[in-house]
Amino acid sequence: MTSLSALQQRAQEDPQGFWADAAAAIDWHRPWETVLSRDNAPLFRWFEGGELNTCYNAVDRHVEAGFGDQVAIHYDSPVTGSAYGITYAELQAQVARLAGALKAQGVTKGDRVVIYMPMVPETVYAMLACARLGAIHSVVFGGFAAAELATRIDDAKPKLVLSASCGVEPSGVVAYKPLLDQALSLASHGVERCLILQRPQCEASLQAGRDLDWHAAQQGVTPADCVPVSATDPLYILYTSGTTGTPKGVVRDNGGHAVALAWSMKAIYDIDAGDTFWAASDVGWVVGHSYIVYGPLLARATTVLYEGKPVGTPDPGAFWRVIEQYRVKSFFTAPTAIRAIKREDPQTEYLGRYNLDCLKALYLAGERCDPDTLNWAMETLRVPVIDHWWQTETGWAICANLMGVEPLPVKAGSPARAVPGYQVEVLDEEGQAVAAGKSGAIAIRLPLPPGTLPTLWGNDQRYIDSYLSRYPGYYLTGDAGYQDEEGYLYIMSRIDDIINVAGHRLSTGRFEEVLAQHPAVAEVAVIGVADKLKGQLPLGLVVLKSGVEMAEGALYQELIALVRKEIGPVAAFKLVSVINKLPKTRSGKILRGTMRKIADNKEYAVPATIEDPAALDLVHNTLVRMGYGKGRVPV
Ligand code: COA
Ligand code: AMP
Repeated sequence: MTSLSALQQRAQEDPQGFWADAAAAIDWHRPWETVLSRDNAPLFRWFEGGELNTCYNAVDRHVEAGFGDQVAIHYDSPVTGSAYGITYAELQAQVARLAGALKAQGVTKGDRVVIYMPMVPETVYAMLACARLGAIHSVVFGGFAAAELATRIDDAKPKLVLSASCGVEPSGVVAYKPLLDQALSLASHGVERCLILQRPQCEASLQAGRDLDWHAAQQGVTPADCVPVSATDPLYILYTSGTTGTPKGVVRDNGGHAVALAWSMKAIYDIDAGDTFWAASDVGWVVGHSYIVYGPLLARATTVLYEGKPVGTPDPGAFWRVIEQYRVKSFFTAPTAIRAIKREDPQTEYLGRYNLDCLKALYLAGERCDPDTLNWAMETLRVPVIDHWWQTETGWAICANLMGVEPLPVKAGSPARAVPGYQVEVLDEEGQAVAAGKSGAIAIRLPLPPGTLPTLWGNDQRYIDSYLSRYPGYYLTGDAGYQDEEGYLYIMSRIDDIINVAGHRLSTGRFEEVLAQHPAVAEVAVIGVADKLKGQLPLGLVVLKSGVEMAEGALYQELIALVRKEIGPVAAFKLVSVINKLPKTRSGKILRGTMRKIADNKEYAVPATIEDPAALDLVHNTLVRMGYGKGRVPV
């Protein structure tokens, strides 16, 4: 086995050779001409000139190699009481038929298709069917509201939308179709056709001339073959929160993505062909794209598609039941899920009911993992618990403990060291690397490895401005932290206004935009405050327009409902208070950073540029009243 340091060195000194070797795991329709093209730096392209099809690599080639009978997907849905396996041969047939239906509707290479669906196998078929045709999918998480879906439709301009009548949440059935209808009426981009999967829990009404029934649309169509695409052609667009209210369309290419994910399955997760891997996330997030769908299938592993929660479906033993039932070897979830289980099963009574001998490691990502949670998981599961750090933009881990290469000692609170291919540095304001132990902005030296974003959809300039301009020659992650003497990184906070709620990344700017729509609101600031279960929660402070007289309770209900309607239930917005004045600089900038420090009980300096120091006391008192920011005083 190659040592970690040898791999690191090779990836740094000879990235082209390193990734060309890794690319041998993928079947190419035409080999690449250049492993890494720097012609358009700071925008880089991997495997230029190469052609492949991602669906072929994830499905068809395994069937051709004689593994058609292997289970590709275990679908397990405690919320609907159903569970079944889908073999690679069945997956191929389903995907080819759906791709045939999309083709019959005029979808061709390069067209965009928006997918707004719950955690059902048809969602995976939909993603792969797009990949099969060279169409670009954009999956929108089901917990987002109509307005968020509309923004994404307007940016991606899809020819077609794939959706379902409903999602099933523990709280009840969530009708998706009315949300889709509303989004389509809000969007300025006209969508020609929608394919709707009718689920038995809730029947959707179809709009004649626009909506087709999912299954009816597939009747009599010719199954479609895989269309070779350029390695640099987009496979998908996935929207993620930026610092403004407008989400960023992260682009993923075909070639670099397939190579990086296939490599990561063994190196990071120690998964070989035939093993079972489970990422308990949602296909609407990057974790779902990379490690429910593409990564495991590219590696010919078996993946688990779980439509349920860590607790309540039906109990905190749900994850352990699934691991035992499908013999999961490597399991991936968010720290929030472990905190939820720990809260409901502190004595591990439910855990004790299952035989987890098959489980070799637990992987956590999506948010900072507090040492208590990590240690609890490690003590109870008795396997290594691997915190690893990444982002929608990178598509796979930046820092991780490589279990398939050379496991390092686990240090609670750290996602370990940079993965080969990434050169991570902690920089000061001037862009100088800081000494070990000192905090700074975390940046990655360009070029980023394959699989990471080549750009933002239709907006190279926004990509350059948001990520590449702050420190020339580097990609700005937006995270801040430090590295210890042994190169272990510690991710401590964000340098921008992004918050992380239950592993879901949300923009405080978007919350502010929505709250400002309320007729009573003159000004608003939203910050993230610490939460024991979800890591962070959004908290809004609103200044009312003069003359507004409204009972506070009623106003709060309206504001909470407004956020739920505009952003969606996933926003988990419940904390809001009226305040007489927001703290600002003399030039009018709201002092959100100082407010965050007050909420987090950190020491803060009163900025010299403050317009009215008393406004900080107001924030302090309001937060204390709401149960946050107790006890600290300014230094
Ligand atoms: N479609 C529609 N609504 C959805 C949804 C979906 N796909 N996913 C979540 N929602 C809704 C929920 O029903 C809930 O609505 P409610 O306010 O009416 O109850 C709301 O969005 C918030 O959901 P959630 O974040 O799941 O919080 P919760 O309080 O219901 O559950 C946990 C708490 C800890 C169980 C849950 O947050 C969890 O499973 N976290 C793990 C996070 C994770 O896997 N993240 C992936 C990143 S790797
Ligand atoms: P997302 O793009 O939604 O996956 O969110 C990415 C962001 O989540 C990162 O930039 C971090 O702020 C945070 N994050 C993800 N994984 C970790 C981790 N292991 N430790 C700390 N923060 C993390």
